[in-house]
Amino acid sequence: MNASKKWRLGMLLSGRGSNFEAIQEAIEQGQLPNTEVAIVVSNHADAGGLMLAQSKGLKTAAFDKQQFENRAAFDRAVAETLQAHQVDLVILAGYDRIISAPLLEAYPARILNIHPSLLPAYGGKGMVGIKVHEAVVENREAHSGCTVHIVTDVVDGGAIVGQRSVPVLDSDTPETLAARILEQEHQLYSQAIREFIAKYFAQEGETDSYERNALV
Ligand code: GRF
Repeated sequence: MNASKKWRLGMLLSGRGSNFEAIQEAIEQGQLPNTEVAIVVSNHADAGGLMLAQSKGLKTAAFDKQQFENRAAFDRAVAETLQAHQVDLVILAGYDRIISAPLLEAYPARILNIHPSLLPAYGGKGMVGIKVHEAVVENREAHSGCTVHIVTDVVDGGAIVGQRSVPVLDSDTPETLAARILEQEHQLYSQAIREFIAKYFAQEGETDSYERNALV
């Protein structure tokens, strides 16, 4: 491996971007060595995370789904932008769109997502945001948490890279549980990215030689 090579992250987000912020801070503090954010992409031009990225001087791009014929055309444009910025690894950080074939094929086993539950529990289509925590509290689960996983064509179904567990308290509302889990997300995501890069990128040889399919 070229010692000066920096692994380039392409962040996709739709909202406030607190996970993106935590990852960027980990990079700035040297906790994610040889890694940099190449570009932050959003499907909402007014996403808080996009503003944050701009304030940090990072490259950004916004795509409006109305401008595209269908999901595949949208994802093809996103993939082309990521490739134009030499992105090695795509990080979904509160991105509210399902990823379709053109993007999956451009980055096979090279897209990570964070989900606010202990997958495979409370995952899948429609299990997003506060709905996850509402279901966990409703079912009086003893534990919940967060999971970083590889993105495949099965929603929330790809190989698990890392997980953190938190207790669910009797006094919890979906909102208090969400907040407790979010704190763990901010620690887990950088750690998982670091471990993923160490395992699948930062070995001898070029990225193309790695056994991508072994993961999915
Ligand atoms: C997080 O809870 C994450 O698990 C989910 O979306 C939320 C994003 O939050 N995928 P933020 O935009 O990173 O603050």
